[in-house]
Amino acid sequence: MKLTINGQEIARDVAQHHTLLEFLRDDIGLTGTKECCAEGECGACTVLLDGKAINSCLVLAAEADGSIVTTIEGLEKDGQLDPLQQAFIDKGAVQCGFCIPGMIMAAKYLLQENSNPTEAEIKQGLAGNLCRCAGYSRIIDAVREASGGRK
Ligand code: FES
Repeated sequence: MKLTINGQEIARDVAQHHTLLEFLRDDIGLTGTKECCAEGECGACTVLLDGKAINSCLVLAAEADGSIVTTIEGLEKDGQLDPLQQAFIDKGAVQCGFCIPGMIMAAKYLLQENSNPTEAEIKQGLAGNLCRCAGYSRIIDAVREASGGRK
C-alpha cells in the first residue's frame, strides 16, 4: 500500500491482518504511538487519519491505503515542538508518559475542530483517552494553555 505518514510518502507491503498501530510501530518504527488495551478503550494509540483522530488499534493498516497519517512524531517541525507538546511540558502534564502521545493527538484534533474550547469541551474531547496516573487536571490545563486559555 501507499500512504503519507508525517509528510513522507511510504510504499510497503503489509499483512492483511495487521492493524495500523502494528504497521506504524513494527513496520515503520514510529513507536511514539502506544499500544495498551488494543481494543479501542484507552486512546493510547490515537493518531490522525486524514485529519481525524482515530484509535489505530481498531483500523486495519490496509484501510489506510492512500491516506494521510499523522503521529506524535509528526507534530514537531524543524526542531520546534507543537504548541500542545510545549504546553504539556510547561504545565507538568506528563507523569509516566504512556498516555501522552494519544492525549496530544486527541487534543490536536480537538483544537483543529474548536480552537478555543471550554473546559467541558476539553474534557469531552479527551473522554476517550485514559491516564492511569490520573493527571487529568494538568492535562486539561495544558490543552487550555495551548488553545489560548478560555475557562
Ligand atoms: Fe488502541 Fe487502547 S490501544 S484504544
